[in-house]
Amino acid sequence: MAVERTLSIVKPDAVAKNVIGQIYTRFEAAGLKIVAAKLKQLSRAEAEGFYAVHKERPFFNALVDFMVSGPVMIQVLEGEGAVAKNRELMGATDPKKADKGTIRADFADSIDANAVHGSDSAENAAIEIAYFFASSEVYGR
Ligand code: PPS
Repeated sequence: MAVERTLSIVKPDAVAKNVIGQIYTRFEAAGLKIVAAKLKQLSRAEAEGFYAVHKERPFFNALVDFMVSGPVMIQVLEGEGAVAKNRELMGATDPKKADKGTIRADFADSIDANAVHGSDSAENAAIEIAYFFASSEVYGR
């Protein structure tokens, strides 16, 4: 399997619950390496730009409100099949439907506050990584 990179965000609910370290431990235990990271308070414009693809969806404003409600921890994960591996670790979007032992099942309360974001394809990962990090800030292999 090819070594890939993916963008991961620990969302404001999980940062507020003080579980960044527990989530990082899961990434590392699964063989994903953190090759860039920043704790950041998103502006409204940054959150709207990041989620622009969802702007026609009914939950868009709620999603943006939530993502600016507190700081987020943004990281680039690198490893074999990183995109799919991270999505597997995250679990389903709705924590009620997420498999036992996944990040969302263990740390998220609802579909609107679901603890983590992960890129859904290698193509989107490249776009999302470039949205938050200069290439000089990513220390991969
Ligand atoms: S996904 O994860 O992209 O496959 O899921 P999708 O259903 O397309 O959702 C896109 C992002 O919107 C968030 N979402 C919601 N936010 C607030 N309220 C409701 N009802 C809701 N439904 C979906 C979902 O968490 C996705 O955010 P990210 O950050 O991409 O995980």
